[in-house]
Amino acid sequence: MKKGLLLFICLSVISLFAVNNAFQFPRQNEDAFNPVKGKGKAAGEPLCLECHSDLIEKKVQHTPAKEGCENCHGVKVADHPEKVAKGLFLTEKVPGLCFLCHDDIKKEIDPTGHVHAAVNEKKFCMNCHSPHSSDEKKLLSGNKKELCLGCHSKDKDANGKKQTNFRQLLATAKVVHPALIGGCNACHKPHASPENFLLISAYPAGQYAAGEKDNYAVCWECHDSDLLDLEKTATSTNFRDGERNLHYLHIKGPKGRSCSVCHNMHATKNARLIVEKVPFGEWNMPMNYVAADSGGSCAPGCHGPEKYRR
Ligand code: HEC
Ligand code: HEC
Ligand code: HEC
Ligand code: HEC
Ligand code: HEC
Ligand code: HEC
Ligand code: HEC
Ligand code: HEC
Repeated sequence: MKKGLLLFICLSVISLFAVNNAFQFPRQNEDAFNPVKGKGKAAGEPLCLECHSDLIEKKVQHTPAKEGCENCHGVKVADHPEKVAKGLFLTEKVPGLCFLCHDDIKKEIDPTGHVHAAVNEKKFCMNCHSPHSSDEKKLLSGNKKELCLGCHSKDKDANGKKQTNFRQLLATAKVVHPALIGGCNACHKPHASPENFLLISAYPAGQYAAGEKDNYAVCWECHDSDLLDLEKTATSTNFRDGERNLHYLHIKGPKGRSCSVCHNMHATKNARLIVEKVPFGEWNMPMNYVAADSGGSCAPGCHGPEKYRR
């Protein structure tokens, strides 16, 4: 009986305390929540978390959010609830806020360079990152690949220009480039890049380029450049007629064909990542590629039907 009474009293005290914490505004000395005076350590930090702990509960926590909300929010508990309803009271606007501590990213996305449009539209950095915590690495707001597909799954961009619908491409393809397993960033930079198409290393834009191996550096991150460089080979590529290297034949020379003329780098309905259509002048000609056990054949617009056998 005595034990029960004690428990009852304890529970009442705890719940009174909790109610008091959760529902009363303002509840304590304002200075304790002053973003300047409260900086560093102070009552401000744990008190924000009494009500907002869900924000930093996830696996990866942003250091400044753990250290004190006032690193980014100039808001006091006393501002609750009237003022906070009107905004987040960020000490500076995003992305400027982020650049206060991430100078390297500011340099990376120097506006004179080639910057990913995603960095400068809508929610800026928050298009891809959480400012507080996340279950994904690098505070990403979603799984790496899904994050990219979220914006790259429309048939047209904001200006009505045709673009690749990646979700559809991947769902309907028979072959997906194994390079995509690790996420799109096996080949692309998320923020900016001096290379074409935000790639991590060189790759030409357009259908033709000098057949130098340095022009296709991004492919040699994983493949051996011998598939291009050896005029004769019995092992370095399967795209050969006997020992005659057909990669060499098509790509070498000052105005060689780019890999994109024949391959889609992401996924295809044809075997071996071969495209269905080749741009030829203003037209898209069917490639008519047929894979065989020891070779293959095609009948594109560029030349008559051709076969190769290893
Ligand atoms: C007693 C509980 C409590 C405490 C303590 C508290 N908050 Fe809040 N906060 C709330 C509630 C409730 C809201 C209402 C908005 C909602 O979450 O729907 C809110 C809203 C906010 C918002 C605006 C959110 C929006 O969507 O516009 C910010 C920013 C914020 N709080 C930051 C802080 C910071 C920083 C601290 C510490 C200085 C803090 N809060 C302390 C309960 C609290
Ligand atoms: C690194 C800067 C930064 C820190 C530190 C930070 N926030 Fe935020 N907070 C933001 C930004 C930016 C947003 C707007 C997010 C968006 O647009 O999606 C935000 C949004 C919010 C919101 C609105 C609801 C939501 O989930 O987006 C609340 C509430 C909030 N912050 C509370 C806090 C609290 C409490 C802390 C301390 C634990 C804190 N913040 C620490 C930058 C920060
Ligand atoms: C008050 C300083 C400060 C501000 C403001 C700040 N950060 Fe950070 N951020 C840090 C620190 C410290 C780390 C952890 C140290 C590190 O790895 O660089 C970090 C790490 C990160 C990481 C990497 C996490 C990881 O796992 O490597 C990302 C992404 C990030 N911040 C994004 C942002 C974004 C987006 C903003 C703007 C909303 C922002 N930061 C604002 C200080 C800050
Ligand atoms: C399109 C999505 C996207 C946008 C927008 C974006 N990021 Fe990132 N960010 C990423 C990805 C993906 C990574 C992880 C890269 C990796 O793992 O190699 C990353 C990594 C980071 C890192 C960790 C740095 C490192 O080298 O590991 C920081 C810091 C960061 N971003 C800050 C920012 C800031 C600040 C902004 C806004 C100016 C921003 N990001 C905008 C996708 C994005
Ligand atoms: C918030 C939306 C958004 C997200 C998220 C996003 N992108 Fe983008 N991305 C865009 C926009 C907008 C463009 C510009 C499209 C245009 O010009 O037609 C673009 C362009 C690109 C380009 C072409 C760049 C060029 O200059 O040719 C590549 C490559 C790209 N994004 C890759 C990625 C990858 C990889 C991810 C995931 C890390 C990603 N995107 C996430 C919106 C987004
Ligand atoms: C094997 C490396 C590689 C990987 C992995 C990769 N890409 Fe690409 N991507 C390229 C190359 C090379 C180009 C430029 C040539 C071309 O389009 O044929 C390109 C072009 C693009 C473009 C611009 C042209 C277009 O078709 O719209 C976008 C957007 C893009 N990639 C998004 C993505 C997304 C999203 C992912 C992840 C699902 C991804 N990429 C994964 C190599 C890669
Ligand atoms: C991140 C690593 C990586 C990068 C970068 C990469 N690949 Fe691949 N690729 C692979 C892997 C793994 C395979 C499967 C094993 C193999 O055939 O070597 C593959 C296979 C292929 C295939 C054969 C597909 C099939 O189904 O037979 C082609 C074609 C191809 N890659 C073209 C390219 C081109 C063109 C580039 C440069 C734009 C490139 N790859 C860049 C990893 C990569
Ligand atoms: C003229 C069309 C064409 C061009 C241009 C082309 N390829 Fe291929 N590629 C093929 C064909 C066809 C195959 C399939 C060979 C087989 O398995 O029978 C192939 C196969 C591959 C493979 C699988 C491994 C192998 O060598 O058999 C890789 C990797 C590859 N190509 C990379 C590239 C790269 C990198 C470029 C640009 C530097 C490129 N290709 C340009 C037609 C082309």
